[in-house]
Amino acid sequence: MASNKVIINDVGPRDGLQNQPKILDLQQRLALILALEAAKVPEIEVGAFVSPKAVPAMAGTADLFPLLPKGSAVYSGLIPNMKGFELASKANVPLMSLVVAASNTMNEKNIKMTTEQSVDVCREVLTLAKSKGANVQAYVATAWECPFEGAIKADEVYRVTEQLIDAGATGIVIADTIGAANPAEVASLMEGLTSRFDSNILSCHFHDTRAMGLANVYAALEAGIRKFDASIAGLGGCPFAPGASGNVATEDVVMMLEQMGYDTGIDIPLLLKASDLAIELTGTATGGNAKTWMEKHYNK
Ligand code: COA
Ligand code: ZN
Repeated sequence: MASNKVIINDVGPRDGLQNQPKILDLQQRLALILALEAAKVPEIEVGAFVSPKAVPAMAGTADLFPLLPKGSAVYSGLIPNMKGFELASKANVPLMSLVVAASNTMNEKNIKMTTEQSVDVCREVLTLAKSKGANVQAYVATAWECPFEGAIKADEVYRVTEQLIDAGATGIVIADTIGAANPAEVASLMEGLTSRFDSNILSCHFHDTRAMGLANVYAALEAGIRKFDASIAGLGGCPFAPGASGNVATEDVVMMLEQMGYDTGIDIPLLLKASDLAIELTGTATGGNAKTWMEKHYNK
């Protein structure tokens, strides 16, 4: 039977901040990460090792890692290529996340390679990572729909997932980059994936563009997934994927899971404080859908 423990990876400091009109400085980014850490969020995506010309909001990510408290959350960093791996290795990043879009066009727009070229680069990175004992997982982006190519075939997602697992990825994050999937499609793809691969190495990443983020988390839970990305205060979006809005809010996901009897280990009153900070720092975050009720219910 699948466990009642669910791991939340807060991607707010990366997916959340990469697409904001206001660029936060390192102290502000650090304050947000520390607020999430104080709320006992078990995994936090700290930032991305990408070109600062492509994503100015992620400049200086390497400088954040030495400032993070040891022995608490698992901190990760996004890497698109070998240079990203080298920079993240130098910064002693405990968990690195490669990213490959299942759609060629999206991958080219995002990281200037075809999907196949990206998988080859991932193989090189994962081989080197193994020799160095580095922990590297991989995102399969636009797993349901691409803003340029439309619907993505499940076989394509299975193929890329298999290639990345065979190459040594320690985890695979299936991402609905633009928030286009519905719960039936999530159930279908995730059941297909869990029948082919170990569900313990799979996780899901949903955006809430069409207000189906939480329903999609539920559909993936039912398929046996016990690890989810979410973003504090519902921040999020990819600068290279038109139409993507914020990720499903961590507050909403944690509330739903805890009310259903799942254990996230997260301190909800402190999570609400992190949410306030995200709103204050960005001026754009929504705080998710349930925050007013959560404030009354949990801040007693
Ligand atoms: N981190 C920082 N700089 C990088 C880098 C990385 N991982 N990879 C390449 N660069 C630098 C190169 O050193 C070079 O710098 P220079 O112009 O000062 O000489 C420049 O970027 C171009 O290098 P090149 O290898 O030709 O890259 P590119 O132009 O093909 O761009 C990416 C590829 C991946 C670097 C770029 O598209 C990118 O950073 N995309 C961001 C993707 C992203 O964050 N998406 C949202 C999250 S999924
Ligand atoms: Zn995303």
